[in-house]
Amino acid sequence: TVAEIKAKGEIVMGTSPDYPPYEFIATVDGKQKAIGMDISIGERFAKDLGVKLVIKQMDFDSLLVGLETGKIDFSISGLTPTNERKKSADFSKVYYQADQYFVVNKNDKKLYKNFHSLAEKK
Ligand code: ARG
Repeated sequence: TVAEIKAKGEIVMGTSPDYPPYEFIATVDGKQKAIGMDISIGERFAKDLGVKLVIKQMDFDSLLVGLETGKIDFSISGLTPTNERKKSADFSKVYYQADQYFVVNKNDKKLYKNFHSLAEKK
């Protein structure tokens, strides 16, 4: 429960850091660390609760089992809801939906017929 988590002073987040830019391993100050958008969201979530965030790195396929067994308190890992997953896991409202584009100058429109032409020299 939230009361138990607050009493413990920490919340355990499971994530599979092999999915940039959501979560991935990078060297920060000489150390290997899981970073990415989901990690930042988890950190903010823990901060709002007033507890420390503990990140458990695990295989993507182990996340739901981790939730069922109580090994982790929650997961943020680019998870998409499916009917199968919803049998054991309770999904939040969507926190991110992508709708992004490559952009070039309108005057150069004719130079860029497709993605490959972005790599070619003018
Ligand atoms: N959105 C896809 C899914 O839920 C892929 C997520 C992969 N995430 C990861 N951290 N490897 O199946």
